[in-house]
Order: sequence, then C-alpha cells, then structure tokens
Amino acid sequence: MLETVRGWIGEARHIAVLTGAGMSAESGVPTFRDAQTGLWSQFNPQDLATEAAFRAHPQRVWDWYAHRREMIAAVQPNAGHVSLASFAQRHPGRLTLITQNVDGLHQLAGQSDALALHGNIAEDQWLDSPRSCCSKETIEAGRPPHCPVCGNLRRPAVVWFGESLPAAALETAEHAACHCDLMLVIGTSGEVYPAAGLAFTAHQSGARVVVINPEPTPLDVVADLCLRASAAVFLPSLLA
Ligand code: OAD
Repeated sequence: MLETVRGWIGEARHIAVLTGAGMSAESGVPTFRDAQTGLWSQFNPQDLATEAAFRAHPQRVWDWYAHRREMIAAVQPNAGHVSLASFAQRHPGRLTLITQNVDGLHQLAGQSDALALHGNIAEDQWLDSPRSCCSKETIEAGRPPHCPVCGNLRRPAVVWFGESLPAAALETAEHAACHCDLMLVIGTSGEVYPAAGLAFTAHQSGARVVVINPEPTPLDVVADLCLRASAAVFLPSLLA
C-alpha cells in the first residue's frame, strides 16, 4: 500500500493535504474526539467553544484557552509535520496544506502558508467590533484582557462552533480540493464541516483520496485507500 500511495504522490500534479488533531497527537497535543484522551470526552464544547459560552463566562473560557495555549507553546512539530514541510519545500507549488489545527505546528515546521481554517490559538482578537478606544497599545491585562475605556474583551482567535471560517482561507482550500489530483486526509475524525466536506469535494472532482488514520472515519467512504497508521510514523516513509 505504501508503494501504491508513493506512486500516486509521484504522479500527482497537485496534492491537497487536510489535517486534523491526530496530526499533532504525537507532539503531545490532545485530540478532541478520541474516547479516553480527547478534550470533548472531558469537556462540553458548548461550555467552552462558543461565543455564548464566552459571553456568559469569559474568565472560565479565557483560562481554558490560556492553559491550552501554554501547553501548545511547550510542544514541537513531530516527524509528520516535518516531512510534510520538507516535501512542500522540495516541490514548490505542488502541495496545498489545509489544517483544522489551531496549534501552529505546521507553520513552526516551516509551512507558513498553511491554511488555518480554525484560526490560531496563539493569537487573540476583539470580541466586538473595535471602537476608536480599542487600541492594541492600551489593552489592559486581565482574564480576559480588555479595553479599559469600553470594556471590549479580547478573545482567542479560533473559530468557535456556529462561527464562519475565515473566508479567504476557506476559498483557497475549496479551490485546492476542486483542482487537486490527490488529497491526503490525515488525523481527522471528519465530523466537523465545512472542513470535512473538502474530502468529498476532492473525490467528486476526480481526485484520489487517501485517509491516514488509525481509526475508521466517515470520510473512508470516499477514500481510494485507507491507511490505518499514525501520522508521525507513516508520513516520513511515505514522503521521503
Ligand atoms: P478529532 O479529535 O475529532 O479527531 C482526531 C482524529 O485523529 C481521530 O479520527 C483519531 O482516530 C485520529 N488520530 C489520533 N491519533 C492519531 C495519529 N497519531 N495519527 C493520525 N491520526 C490520529 O479532531 P479533528 O477532526 O481535528 O474545532 O476535529 C475537528 C474540529 O473539531 C477541531 O478543529 C476542533 C474540534 O472541535 C475547533 O477548534 C473549531
């Protein structure tokens, strides 16, 4: 199977890669939906990953993200991130990396052009549209930090449930899914749309789809091959 996929990679003019939390699992970042270790097996996303939750309990939500931000700041890209970045550097313009991950590990590995569909946990932004008093220079520290004049809060720059994805990144990702010859779907449960829909788009547009995940997923139905493998172990040999 490894040789088959290697052959497809060699033939493909354009490769789209869609990654999810499993991509970073071997860096030590917990996934969301794995039964024992996933964040959503311990916490209710409605309490932590919605605008309504933040407005109701800003300190609780801020603290949860601050804790994750600190944990993520202490980890490193794994061999899977590194091999994707190295492939992209060796083949300029042939690979579009689309990620649902907010950990910035693809970027840290060298793929600064990764399309971060769900934002970046290291950054924050204003909760409400900034007024003239909302200046970066005068932000008052706090949990969350805020504008000392009008009280506008800073919030993590991640996409919460019910929010739109960054339009430009999504458009570029959809274009890549429509025009690629091969899509590698790595470490995602395929439960969250519109990201998961990109695998269907690629399949319907005639691309081969390869799923790399130790567990079955709902995206397997569009896969030409499913590789039950971990990202950090498999990708280096696949992309060498
Ligand atoms: P999930 O936690 O839903 O799925 C992680 C997937 O990774 C599962 O299918 C695992 O089987 C697989 N996996 C675990 N370890 C792996 C490894 N070492 N190598 C390869 N695969 C492995 O994470 P996502 O699909 O990314 O949204 O979740 C999508 C979105 O839901 C996230 O972006 C997040 C969450 O709510 C936001 O933060 C907006």
